[in-house]
Amino acid sequence: MVDGLLQVEGGRPLNGEITVRGAKNLVPKAMVAALLGTTPSVLHNVPLIRDVDVVSGLLSLHGVSVDYDQAEGVLRLDPSRVESAHMADIDAHAGSSRIPILFCGPLLHRLGEAFIPDLGGCRIGDRPIDFHLDILRAFGATVDKQPQGIRLTAPDGLRGTVIDLPYPSVGATEQTLLTAVRAEGLTELRGAAVEPEIMDLVDVLQKMGAIISVDTDRTIHVEGVDELVGYNHRALPDRIETASWASAALATHGDVFVHGAHQSDMTTFLNIFRKVGGAFDVREDGIRFYHPGGDLKSIVVETNVHPGFMTDWQQPLVVALTQAEGLSIVHETVYENRFGFTGALRKMGATIQVYRECLGGTACRFGQRNFYHSAVISGPTPLHGADIVVPDLRGGFSHLIAALAAEGTSHVEGVNLIDRGYEHFMSKLAALDADVTRLA
Ligand code: EPZ
Repeated sequence: MVDGLLQVEGGRPLNGEITVRGAKNLVPKAMVAALLGTTPSVLHNVPLIRDVDVVSGLLSLHGVSVDYDQAEGVLRLDPSRVESAHMADIDAHAGSSRIPILFCGPLLHRLGEAFIPDLGGCRIGDRPIDFHLDILRAFGATVDKQPQGIRLTAPDGLRGTVIDLPYPSVGATEQTLLTAVRAEGLTELRGAAVEPEIMDLVDVLQKMGAIISVDTDRTIHVEGVDELVGYNHRALPDRIETASWASAALATHGDVFVHGAHQSDMTTFLNIFRKVGGAFDVREDGIRFYHPGGDLKSIVVETNVHPGFMTDWQQPLVVALTQAEGLSIVHETVYENRFGFTGALRKMGATIQVYRECLGGTACRFGQRNFYHSAVISGPTPLHGADIVVPDLRGGFSHLIAALAAEGTSHVEGVNLIDRGYEHFMSKLAALDADVTRLA
């Protein structure tokens, strides 16, 4: 069954205005946080994306009433009747997202038990959850791996602990925060992720009554409290979607104004965007990204945890780099297998070679193992239309950008995957004067 098929007539600049709403990598976590409150929560700037549906479904299964006003982007959550969900029902949501793993702490606090289905998420690496399970055990939970998922119990409650993260994992940091805020006593998390989405989750939890501090050395301290109440919060804008549209503007010689974009979340991206030859204007209500004319310049870029260049920014940028003069190098240090999308770009005429070595930067975790995690892009190469299949969320959007930049007709299959993280992307493409038709 074709999971969404588009016909794209490429070679036209994207010109116009779009609006980006709340960050896909914050909103579902703030929804889970509402479980910890004894009173209702309200979340603003919520986009209509698949991950919000998935978490709404899981919350409803546990007795949380969820009301979403799509037009307003307002989500109302009432956790006052939380109860255990039936395992078969939860299993129905298996494989659709990684967010369920973050239900563990809140459900253990509320119910003393939790069942988590097998996780989904993009196939961009092994995506282990060993950090998560070690963290939950450190708080005092018992973890029992079963055929359909993981069953956890904490009959004696959860107690604050000291956690040393081997890598600044976003998910593991969220796991710790969502568990520590109601655990008994103090928790110290060393080597934490400090992405803007993490700091927004800290704001949400602090509004609920939590006591959290973040030190300059990535150590987070949490004092457990006896009760948390509902929050009223406006989610920060999606800096990944914003960067995707910015790269699309560059790759198609276009001019795109992104309503809602925040400069401060995107400093490193904006520096790279400018070094490649893109131009941007920061305004009160968003950022204008455009190709100012002239040649794009090749660069060396290494992905890293915040405040470095985000791993989710590299796929859309690589498409623009196929149009830059000379050799660009991208060293992906966060995920081991995040260049799968380059196969389709080569099919469209790009010259991209991937390597096992750590190229262009410092040695990373993947250097001595068998992962093709560095790419060299030689440009400029004219791209021509082709029939391509979407591999994952961010790679899929990059395929769309490539099809929009290529001369001629492309068919892009599997685009329903893009709905997971890009709200109304078809109407946004129409607003940007793209010639795209949905065939299935
Ligand atoms: C979050 O994934 C985001 N997803 C990702 O965005 C993002 O790329 C990533 O953080 C890094 O910023 C969501 O927030 C839903 P990690 P997460 O734990 O939390 C290793 C997108 O398209 N690791 O920071 O799963 C892991 O293998 C997605 O929006 C372990 O080894 O990422 C990876 O190498 C893609 N064991 C590294 O840490 C663990 O238990 C970073 O992963 C957990 C992680």
